[in-house]
Amino acid sequence: MTTVIDGKQVAASVIDAVKAASETLTKETGVKTGLAVVIVGSDPASHAYVGAKGRMAKECGFTSVQHTLPEETTQEELAALVQTLNADETLHGILVQLPLPKHLNSEPIIQSILPEKDVDGLHVVNAGKLATGDLDGGLVSCTPAGAMVFVKRTHGEDLSGLNAVVIGRSNLFGKPMGQLLLAANATVTIAHSRTKDLPAVCRNADILVAAVGRPEMVKADWVKPGATVIDVGINRIAAPEKGEGKSKLVGDVAFEEAANVASVITPVPGGVGPMTIAMLMANTVIAAYRKAGKKAPKF
Ligand code: GUN
Repeated sequence: MTTVIDGKQVAASVIDAVKAASETLTKETGVKTGLAVVIVGSDPASHAYVGAKGRMAKECGFTSVQHTLPEETTQEELAALVQTLNADETLHGILVQLPLPKHLNSEPIIQSILPEKDVDGLHVVNAGKLATGDLDGGLVSCTPAGAMVFVKRTHGEDLSGLNAVVIGRSNLFGKPMGQLLLAANATVTIAHSRTKDLPAVCRNADILVAAVGRPEMVKADWVKPGATVIDVGINRIAAPEKGEGKSKLVGDVAFEEAANVASVITPVPGGVGPMTIAMLMANTVIAAYRKAGKKAPKF
């Protein structure tokens, strides 16, 4: 029997733990966890994501601040806002929603966020801590952290002897995912568009993580029988079967056929997606604990 992971349910359990941690922190120190989210421009999808992040922060009992800046915001104005948020003692996490409008350069903005408030885990200090195996000192990018919760709930904390293949080498996902798996003792391959015979590489994976952005690319015969398959892709494709002009979301894995071969698999939607926001909340409360000089909880 294949187990289909219910990402909403796992995310809800993380959120419950975050709420409890945030209440405990307030009780013990009087500190209320605070998250600031910055959005520039009017992209509807980005506004939907940011709205969801703000609502979830409130549900966790956090102070939740949203800064909505107009499309024509300058680099200097955005940089000045980040400096103000860095200096605000009531805020423990800062997230600048990406992508920024084309005239803005996101990299210097991300790197100007204090590493201890970088709840996206994108600052080079946080990327460096992860790369050197310091998992308890920095903040880990939310989507790989969420995918890793699934892996650990399936295989336990120690992945010794297991082969993990990550398809995709982005800074936001593929590289940190590979490093998390490595830190848990998996034997890790990071595959990408230049990898030779990708299906054969994937067939070697006990844990296969797909993050390429290509709808249903990973077929059943890429999957080792009994493998754990984590699908990080979110692709919108035409769905004429639902009616003219309709569309649907699919992952990077051909779910129906791969589910016949895998022993554990995540669906899209409802798999990794809900975990990203949950881990953002987790990172924010972790940042608040550290700022208060208390040992941060693990999620
Ligand atoms: N846009 C889409 N996903 C993300 C994310 O995880 N963090 C930020 N900052 N922007 C995003």
